[in-house]
Amino acid sequence: MQPLVYPAMFQLIILRLFFLFPVISGGRPCVPVNFGHGSVVCVCNATYCDTLDPVVLPALGTFSQYESSQSGKRLDLSTGAFKKRTPSPSDLVLTLNEAKKYQIIKGFGGAVTDSASLNILSLSSGVQENLLKSYFSEEGIEYNIVRVPMASCDFSIRVYTYLDKDSDFKLDSFSLQEEDIKLKIPVIQKAREMSKRPISLFASPWTSPAWMKTNNATNGKGILKGQPGDQYHKTWANYFIRFLDEYAKHNVSFWAVTVENEPTAGMMTDYPFQCLGFTPEHMRDFISTDLGPAFANSSYKHVKMMILDDNRLLLPYWAKVILSDVNAAQYVHGISVHWYLDDLVPAEISLGTTHRLYPEYFLFASEACNGFLPWDKGVRLGCWHRGNKYSSRIIEDLNNYVTGWTDWNLALDTDGGPTWVENYVDSPIIVDIIKDVFYKQPTFYHMGHFSKFIPEGSQRVGLDVSHENQLETVAFLRPDNAVTVVVLNGGSLDVNFVISDPLLGVIDATCPANSIQTYIWRRK
Ligand SMILES: *[C@@H]1O[C@H](CO)[C@@H](O)[C@H](O)[C@H]1NC(C)=O
Ligand SMILES: *[C@@H]1O[C@H](CO)[C@@H](O)[C@H](O)[C@H]1NC(C)=O
Ligand SMILES: *[C@@H]1O[C@H](CO)[C@@H](O)[C@H](O)[C@H]1NC(C)=O
Ligand SMILES: *[C@@H]1O[C@H](CO)[C@@H](O)[C@H](O)[C@H]1NC(C)=O
Repeated sequence: MQPLVYPAMFQLIILRLFFLFPVISGGRPCVPVNFGHGSVVCVCNATYCDTLDPVVLPALGTFSQYESSQSGKRLDLSTGAFKKRTPSPSDLVLTLNEAKKYQIIKGFGGAVTDSASLNILSLSSGVQENLLKSYFSEEGIEYNIVRVPMASCDFSIRVYTYLDKDSDFKLDSFSLQEEDIKLKIPVIQKAREMSKRPISLFASPWTSPAWMKTNNATNGKGILKGQPGDQYHKTWANYFIRFLDEYAKHNVSFWAVTVENEPTAGMMTDYPFQCLGFTPEHMRDFISTDLGPAFANSSYKHVKMMILDDNRLLLPYWAKVILSDVNAAQYVHGISVHWYLDDLVPAEISLGTTHRLYPEYFLFASEACNGFLPWDKGVRLGCWHRGNKYSSRIIEDLNNYVTGWTDWNLALDTDGGPTWVENYVDSPIIVDIIKDVFYKQPTFYHMGHFSKFIPEGSQRVGLDVSHENQLETVAFLRPDNAVTVVVLNGGSLDVNFVISDPLLGVIDATCPANSIQTYIWRRK
């Protein structure tokens, strides 16, 4: 028997060496710390932070595989080669189907809130540098989307707008605040300097000045006073234009705006933080009468306007009310969704239906965070499950026509704040200001499995699945003609599978329990 066993073992070793070997990369490894929430965080300080290499496409006929896992891998790179063989009928096969073409991707990112900026700028300069590089540089996960609140929100340390002087319909007293000049704009500029990709910003208001509102307050149940077309509505529309003008003076320009953050919040009695209520009918008329014409008569005609900016269970209703009105629809480009009540309505019914009704309007995910549920509140350092939840939702959204995905605060403190209204939540990066370090959570790497490998301009393509299985998967054709496939295994069993690219052959793969993988390969 011996002579038979040895060649078999030898073959196996050769196969392993040849088809899947770890790459010695220039990236620096994670310094792990376990806080007892299921997995580790990676700690960074002024002199050390884990890094990634820029994505280099491997030679034709080979592929790169990046893996993160509950057991501690963090975007670890391996390479391997395609094999020319026909999968057997029992194999779980994911077949690339480029004939099926779907949405074009805008990108991935997070929000520069007052609190995030305050946290980042409270660190010493070397630590700040490592934090922003982690998000925006080629050493990091290369975000290209940044959301900017227009004035204060729950993630501020005080409540303000840019026009708090009573009855200032002419906007004479409009002015950006210290939070813009000293916090958010400097962070945006630093991020931009570190980024190789162009960064697209979008802005969202939480509340108008209280004096414009029916309840004379920035929170609680309240809407704009009067009717579309009147001075309150005109002034609120002009406020958007003035905001863009003032940021432009600091050389910060915007790709898009949302009409209102969570417009349904301001329809609720005693809503605790900044909000401004709209029904879809009110938003439709505000857009067609005030906001749309204000943009059309400004130098911001090219700025995209997104409606909704609220939970997807409001779809397709909100889209129908606003987009079936040609006067409003002519000013609108996209529909943005928040993830908070996703469990209540399937993606196919909300996002899928909306896309089929209004295919010319893009869908875009504009806010998500963990730790918002009363029974699961705040920061959980190293929680793998929360990372898994991000990836699962991102894959679901991407498979239902969503063109980009935006996380909430880029960085929070160890309490999940600061937040003037004590709405503590979680973030992919948690800063410990006293120790002058920050922690990169599992959610950070989960975001990276998408943001780094699916650049703007990528197009989702078909990935046909041979059997029912526990993997969640999605595929893209990138502008450089490479393919990216993301595979998430949220289950507790390893899954063997085969990726088939009809041009190149097959990849024999295993996605271990509680892990996520990104595959990338060139096709010519
Ligand atoms: C920064 O982190 C590295 C790696 O963990 C460690 O060796 C070094 O001592 C830390 N520096 C400071 C100033 O804490
Ligand atoms: C609105 O509230 C402010 C501050 O609380 C108060 O000074 C002002 O008189 C109020 N305006 C009206 C019309 O009630
Ligand atoms: C303005 O921003 C652009 C990038 O958007 C940059 O290339 C340019 O140098 C900046 N100009 C100034 C004056 O800061
Ligand atoms: C268009 O903008 C100009 C100045 O920017 C203003 O004078 C004019 O009233 C605006 N027209 C409309 C219809 O809003």
